[in-house]
Amino acid sequence: MSEYKFIDHTYDVVVVGAGGSGLRAALGAAQAGLRTACISKVFPTRSHTVAAQGGIAASLGNMSPDDWRWHMYDTVKGSDWLGDQDSIEYLCKNAPAAVYELEHWGMPFSRTEQGEIYQRPFGGMMQNMGQGPEAQRTCAAADRTGHAMLHTLYGQALKNDTEFFIEYVALDLIMDEDGACRGVTAWKLDDGTLHRFSAQKTILATGGYGRAFFSCTSAHTCTGDGNAMVLRAGLPLQDMEFVQFHPTGIYGAGCLITEGSRGEGGYLTNSEGERFMERYAPSAKDLASRDVVSRAMTLEIREGRGVGPEKDHIYLHLEHLPPETLASRLPGISETARIFAGVDVTKEPIPVLPTVHYNMGGIPTNFHGEVLTKKDGDPDSVVPGLMAVGEAACVSVHGANRLGSNSLIDLVVFGRAAGLRCGDTVEAGASQPRITDQMTASHLARFDRLRNASGDQNVADLRLEMQKAMQNNCAVFRTGEVLDEGVGAIADLYKKLPSLNVEDRTMIWNTDLLEALEFDNLIGQAAVTVNSAANRKESRGAHAREDFADRDDKEWMKHTLAWVGATGEVTIDYRPVHEYTMSNEIEYIKPKQRVY
Ligand code: FUM
Repeated sequence: MSEYKFIDHTYDVVVVGAGGSGLRAALGAAQAGLRTACISKVFPTRSHTVAAQGGIAASLGNMSPDDWRWHMYDTVKGSDWLGDQDSIEYLCKNAPAAVYELEHWGMPFSRTEQGEIYQRPFGGMMQNMGQGPEAQRTCAAADRTGHAMLHTLYGQALKNDTEFFIEYVALDLIMDEDGACRGVTAWKLDDGTLHRFSAQKTILATGGYGRAFFSCTSAHTCTGDGNAMVLRAGLPLQDMEFVQFHPTGIYGAGCLITEGSRGEGGYLTNSEGERFMERYAPSAKDLASRDVVSRAMTLEIREGRGVGPEKDHIYLHLEHLPPETLASRLPGISETARIFAGVDVTKEPIPVLPTVHYNMGGIPTNFHGEVLTKKDGDPDSVVPGLMAVGEAACVSVHGANRLGSNSLIDLVVFGRAAGLRCGDTVEAGASQPRITDQMTASHLARFDRLRNASGDQNVADLRLEMQKAMQNNCAVFRTGEVLDEGVGAIADLYKKLPSLNVEDRTMIWNTDLLEALEFDNLIGQAAVTVNSAANRKESRGAHAREDFADRDDKEWMKHTLAWVGATGEVTIDYRPVHEYTMSNEIEYIKPKQRVY
């Protein structure tokens, strides 16, 4: 490996990823006086947070009565009781302050007549501890909330002297022999150099892995690189069987049509013109939780009531809404529908289909963002030096199913928490143990192996095979038989990995190699996802087993932990769900049947 030389850097804190959670964590660490680097494979304002549309949940009470406890109740219920209630309390209690912070930093929210932040209804968000009526809790900047938020946070991160390393592809975590994380290695795309970042804390903010599936709302960059680095470091991922399908991806293209469109009064119909959600969720109807709506749509299609020549999708109607509402509240999706579905939303319905949107599972953390593993029987053992935030992390506030608009708030509340934790635990400029070549030898071996891969299997072909297997065998509805077939398909793909082929051997902007590295990241996550799903023999949240149709709290009220070996073998263990709150301000919300 003498052909490769690392350029070394030392920081107090290194954040990997420059989406909403990464930027919020980085600027918080920088504000605490810590020398902070943020490395990102894309320009920060192109991170996938930019695509978030409908809004950010917080109980401001601007447009309906509200209370953080009501928000907490809805989040616990939405999670189908798999969420950790101490973390959920932290999220909902800190949400209003996090939104006002964004407002004070200049985030251009839409406004009410009174000049307050505009809030719209979103699925599963109710008043009065779930009793209703619906709560207008989702703060919005039209339907481009993520765009507004990302630009605001990038500005603040620059102002606070975060140092950016842009178009650096993170390769692997630098772990020492005691199991502590000492930093991360990266490949700089535009000049082909390799870098070693030594840090007292490494924060993974690398987002989800939607691209393991064939149809998703995620950008091509959403390959869960941090999750994969954690797996390669011999650490587990948590609750990976819980994959969210958003009800309204554009049929064929997969692009997101925000749930905010139903919040503004949009509704779904089948081929009989029936508003079928009234049958499945008589109270919340089209604004039931996402897993409920996605399942209802899938059943309608299965029972022959889908629309279109192949009866394989559903219509979303917005044409009855005033054109001014569409122009002011939903301009982004009006444009998306025109470009990707050829539909004028003022005149015709949009063809939609449930599409992979979010990963509830990820890197297990506590509410400070510290990464956890199970060690010597302790299920909450902190991995020194390693933190995770955002979609990459599993805190777990979303449990088995996330409510819409709880993602953006998760990014800023836990990004801020991670920055605060760094301020409390990191000594600015403290000396760090030297990174040895031995610690990074496996990183170079993997990089070199993929760069020189000369088999007969094309990366794009294997990726497509994986995506189709995940789409077909780990879908909205699951059975043991179909999941086992998926487990087999991913295992077969692992056998083909040694025959991978990468044509381009160069180091500068080698997208052939980049895609191979990303595919190598995705396949490990596909393995733990489908194996965890086959293992969980109950239905909960987004994990709907037709052969185990009920939730089974006695056996399965527990988090899955999953590890993957080099040849794709998956090992499974469990962590208890935190069945307690953080304070006396709210009592533990006891499990009950989840109806909308
Ligand atoms: O539908 C949406 O606007 C998506 C929001 C979310 O996933 O939180």
